[in-house]
Amino acid sequence: LSVAQITRVLAHSAHLKRVSYPLLRPTSTPNSPPSPSSLPPQTLSHKTIALLFSKRSTRTRVSAETSAALLGGNAMFLGKEDIQLGVNESARDTVQVLGGMCQGIFARVGEHSEIEELVKYSPIPVINALSSYWHPTQILADMLTLHEHSNLFAPTPPSSSSSNSESELPPLRPLTIAYVGDSTNVLHDMLVTYPRFGHSVRVATPRADAYQCPAPVWDRVQELGCDKKIWWGPDPREAVHGADVVVTDTWISMGQEAEKAQRLKDFQGYQVTEALCKEGGANPDWKFLHCLPRKQDEVDDEVFYGPRSLAFPEAENRKWTIMALFDLMFGQWKI
Ligand code: CP
Ligand code: NVA
Repeated sequence: LSVAQITRVLAHSAHLKRVSYPLLRPTSTPNSPPSPSSLPPQTLSHKTIALLFSKRSTRTRVSAETSAALLGGNAMFLGKEDIQLGVNESARDTVQVLGGMCQGIFARVGEHSEIEELVKYSPIPVINALSSYWHPTQILADMLTLHEHSNLFAPTPPSSSSSNSESELPPLRPLTIAYVGDSTNVLHDMLVTYPRFGHSVRVATPRADAYQCPAPVWDRVQELGCDKKIWWGPDPREAVHGADVVVTDTWISMGQEAEKAQRLKDFQGYQVTEALCKEGGANPDWKFLHCLPRKQDEVDDEVFYGPRSLAFPEAENRKWTIMALFDLMFGQWKI
C-alpha cells in the first residue's frame, strides 16, 4: 500500500473503532446509543470471506471473524486440516473454487511464494494474513496504536503531522523506532513502512551469517528508498539509542521450532529489559510494542506487563485495522 492508502486505512480504522464501541461496550456510554448514521457500514452483507490459514492464529483469526460480523458478513475459517489444499488439491484449483463462492481471501501461509501463487490465480482480492517474509496487517495495528498514544511522544510539532488533521487519527511526530531480535516478517513490514512516514528504524540482530534480512525483502526496502532511514547492526544497546519505541518479536517463529536450541543460544543478550534500554540510552519515556504471542525470552515481565507496554492495545487494534481493510478491499472494492 502507498502512504496515502495506509493513511486512509488508519483513519478508517479509527472511525470504525469509534462507531463500533458503543455497540460492543454499551455500559461505557449508557446515555448515548449510536445514531443509525454512525453504525458500522454493512458492506459485507451477503458476502463470505475465506480465512485460508495454514498456521495457528489467535489475534488475526479473531479480528477477521469478529470484524466480518460487524460489517454484516461472514468469515469462514479454513484451516489446513479442513480442506483439500496441499493434500489433494493445488493452490490454483483451490482459489478458482473459492472465487466462485466467496468474495475475498485472507490467507496465512508458510513460504511467501505460496501467497504469490494464490494471488496469481485468484479471481477475488487476497490479503496477506502472514507469510514467511511479511506480516502487513500487523504494522497497520502498530501504527494505529502509536497514533492513538501520540501524546506519550510529546512534543508534537503541528507541522510534523503525517495525517489529515480532520480525520479521527491523532497526528504523530517522527519517531525513532528500535527493533531488537530476529529478522522476522513483522520487522520486514516495519522496514518498508515506518521510513515512508518519516520515522527512523534502528535494528539489532545477531550473527551476520544467520539472522539477516532476506534479499527479496531488502530489495523492496531499497526500492522504496527506506534504507536511508534504517540503521542495522549487531549491538542491541546501540540499536535502542535514542529510541522512542522499542519493538521485538519471538526468536522462534512458527515453523522454526526445530531450531529452538540454537536460536536461544544465538539470541542471548537480546532480551528487551529496562537495563538494556537504560544502558543503550533510549528516550527515558520509551514505549514497547510486541505483535504477540510473546515469550519471556525476548522481553522480560517488567517491560511486558509494565506501564511502557502498549502490547494489548496493539493486539486489540488488529481488529479495527483488519475491519478497515475488509471494508475497503472486500466490501467497497476501493482502497
Ligand atoms: N500477531 C499475530 O499475528 O498474532 P496471531 O498469530 O495470534 O494471529
Ligand atoms: N514472527 C512470528 C509472528 C507471529 C505473529 C511468526 O511468524 O511466527
